[in-house]
Amino acid sequence: MPIFDAPFDPARETALVTGAGNGIGRAVALALVGEGVRTVFADIKAETVAAAVAAAAQPGLAIPWVGDLALRAECDRLLADSRSALGLITHFVHSAAPPRREADHALAVTDDTWERMRAVNVDAGFHLGREVSRALIAAGVPGSMLYLTSLHAETPRNLPHYSTSKAALAMLVKEFAKTLGRYNIRVNALVPGAIAAGGFVADPTLARHIPLGRLGRSDDLAPLALAVLSNRISGYVTGAAIVIDGGISLTNWFDPPVLED
Ligand SMILES: NC(=O)c1ccc[n+]([C@@H]2O[C@H](COP(=O)([O-])OP(=O)(O)OC[C@H]3O[C@@H](n4cnc5c(N)ncnc54)[C@H](O)[C@@H]3O)[C@@H](O)[C@H]2O)c1
Repeated sequence: MPIFDAPFDPARETALVTGAGNGIGRAVALALVGEGVRTVFADIKAETVAAAVAAAAQPGLAIPWVGDLALRAECDRLLADSRSALGLITHFVHSAAPPRREADHALAVTDDTWERMRAVNVDAGFHLGREVSRALIAAGVPGSMLYLTSLHAETPRNLPHYSTSKAALAMLVKEFAKTLGRYNIRVNALVPGAIAAGGFVADPTLARHIPLGRLGRSDDLAPLALAVLSNRISGYVTGAAIVIDGGISLTNWFDPPVLED
């Protein structure tokens, strides 16, 4: 059989995608449904979740869920609702992240903004990933998880709450990958460059720093996300951070923040 014919087994495999109302999470969730995988679309915004589910190739396979993943109780409700809808969750994608605002540099960011960024990226990513894994281990079933990190896990972004939370997430991927490998649960990071989605207000002039000559689109990420999630295609890939950035990481394009002193 050709390698790319059946990346997933829809009879056995299911998915939970956070941040599925918009941008990269939406593109990945829609692509999973396109492969016939029953997928929970989780996001804080009811309207965007409804629109994403309506856009699915097979809307019956797309299950909407709305809640605030900064809250532990909501994460637990998401897990319970996903299990009711899907049974075992075999694939988990963590794309949710609060919006970034250029004004939130190190001297300006508030405690609330700092806390919320960490809560959604790191705390929810850890809790949801661990619980998904525990269920897979108990069932003796393989699975995979994909975390959206950032080039700014390694280089400052003038947004310390964002870059530190992505750095933590990058290490969480490695911790999970190392611990869960023996259970055949693979855990990887997808590292986008400048993607004109919702979370990043893209300045089109950035394109001149990008070897491939344009900003990225959410749809650029979905095929690679599915390839990395697929046990069939990427069965020997874990703990990897896969950069998809049109080559922008070959340049260094952010000036220091503008400070008003
Ligand atoms: N766009 C980029 O250039 C870029 C670059 C590097 C990394 N990333 C990462 O990729 C992921 C997706 O980015 P995007 O640009 O598509 O973002 P986006 O803002 O378009 O989508 C993020 C989604 O998360 C949801 N969300 C925010 N807070 C939430 C909460 N408390 N509970 C539930 N859902 C919540 C939002 O409503 C939104 O739909 C993020 O983790 C982001 O950090 C994006």
